[in-house]
Amino acid sequence: MSVLTESPAWRALAAHRDAMTSVHVRDLFAADAARFDRFSLEVEDILVDYSKNRVTSETLELLFGLARQAGVFEWRDRMFAGEKINRTEDRAVLHVALRNRSNRPIVVDGNDVMPKVNGVLAKMREFTESVRSGAWKGHTGKRITDIVNIGIGGSDLGPAMASLALKPYWQPAMRAHFVSNVDGTHLAEALKEVVAEQTLFVVESKTFTTQETLLNARSARAWLVEKLGSEAAVPRHFVAVSTATEEVKKFGIDPKNMFGFWDWVGGRYSLWSAIGMPIALLIGMDGFEELLAGGHAMDEHFRTAPMEANVPVVLGMLGVWYMNFFGAQTHAILPYDQYMSRFAAYFQQGDMESNGKRVDRAGLFIEDYTTGPIVWGEPGTNGQHAFYQLLHQGTRLVPCDFLAPLETHNPLPSPAPSPAPSPAPSPAPSPAATDGSGHHQVLLANYFAQTEALMRGKTPDEARAELEAQKLPPPRVAELVPHKSFPGNRPTTSILFTKLTPKTLGMLIAMYEHKIFVQGIVWQIFSFDQWGVELGKQLAKKIEPELASKGVVTTHDGSTNALINRYKRHYGRGI
Ligand code: F6P
Repeated sequence: MSVLTESPAWRALAAHRDAMTSVHVRDLFAADAARFDRFSLEVEDILVDYSKNRVTSETLELLFGLARQAGVFEWRDRMFAGEKINRTEDRAVLHVALRNRSNRPIVVDGNDVMPKVNGVLAKMREFTESVRSGAWKGHTGKRITDIVNIGIGGSDLGPAMASLALKPYWQPAMRAHFVSNVDGTHLAEALKEVVAEQTLFVVESKTFTTQETLLNARSARAWLVEKLGSEAAVPRHFVAVSTATEEVKKFGIDPKNMFGFWDWVGGRYSLWSAIGMPIALLIGMDGFEELLAGGHAMDEHFRTAPMEANVPVVLGMLGVWYMNFFGAQTHAILPYDQYMSRFAAYFQQGDMESNGKRVDRAGLFIEDYTTGPIVWGEPGTNGQHAFYQLLHQGTRLVPCDFLAPLETHNPLPSPAPSPAPSPAPSPAPSPAATDGSGHHQVLLANYFAQTEALMRGKTPDEARAELEAQKLPPPRVAELVPHKSFPGNRPTTSILFTKLTPKTLGMLIAMYEHKIFVQGIVWQIFSFDQWGVELGKQLAKKIEPELASKGVVTTHDGSTNALINRYKRHYGRGI
């Protein structure tokens, strides 16, 4: 047994879980008219309703006891103070400094990092304003209309997710394309959509050594030079965002066209740095700073709110409750906002690269508890018609977060169903529904219904009554009752906010970042390294020349040899 699972706080939770397995949240609501008030929180305009979770006040107390025992707040303070809590990489963890709008000094190795942070923000402002105003010209004197971001992992997912989420704020006639996959199709398809003269490539890589990014960037550069007929075009069409000046120079980008950040910014936490360049180009620097302000507002909440009122702590500990005490393996993020369609994908990296660890901070293998969940999700209502069946009636427990704005950016009315076809001209489109009705009302009705259904379920008696009302023969009723009943008691957390603005998006992202932090501390792991991605990269480097050379490969296991040789045979490079 590990020290953690033997600890008093853990054992108390295990005992409490035994008592809670027979408790249904439907009954908890019936017994407590104030349950919503008791188990919901607000931070600025974000409402977090966690009352549909399998918790009581006692559960929360015990979970906070575990958080206290783990030293969540002490570790939080060490992070904010710039201590090198990323011990295996010997780095501070300071994405919070990037959005520190208070400018409170944050010291690493004896130096306040804030002047450097503000310096890069100023350089970003100057550059983005010149591109957006048209003052920055391409090689042939035309203004930039298309941004192609080249990066992968944190150097892609963050800017891509946030840019898409903030599409209503984009400068008109500005377009963005995100190329990450080394599959040439990704770049080739993006290049079909742009004209070289008006395209700016933003090459983003913390290390500037990432194979996929460098290959994509080299191919993009070759394409540009071929299209514009001169190497001299490169400085007007390529900028870099990186921590590695020498590597950027080696690639052939002038450091004056480079925007820096620092080793204390983790890749998956870097959208707040100059890695956010595409966002700033699209929505402007004021909008980007609003995003930072949102992140900072959530930081201040996380830094100062007591545990019971602290949203990231509550969300993190709810996750611990289900993963460690109910055996849940996954966590679904379900945004009811099409603009947030990449939000779950973004937090796949954010969460799974951070907390997908099996060695604790003491270097011991973790054997008797689980760490980071599999994170997944799709925007509602698409998910409802795909995987919600399993959420409602499957054998697995999947805690879900439902996110939605009260107001949409696209208030489409819902026209009345068309009458029978007639030759009469169709009526003029009715004005947009700005009172919340129309599509958005339908969307939110589904959101509310799903969380209610997952919590309430449908008892066999209720199912039977419905079937009997349909006058089905009794044997048919008996046959169908188990299939038509829903267990309910499926935990959901509802997160509602006014509108998806840059500030709110910043708050939501920071909320999840800190939730991940809380869980990593409880699980006693290092959340800010990612050694697990190295092995595959090393092997790919070994295999690549093997694919190019002649002769049969025998240096791997039977399966890998056979797959490699199949490829080589196809290209006549086998025996
Ligand atoms: O996949 C591993 C990883 O190191 C991520 O953490 C990072 O976001 C990504 O690769 C890209 O790295 P870089 O920004 O250095 O190109």
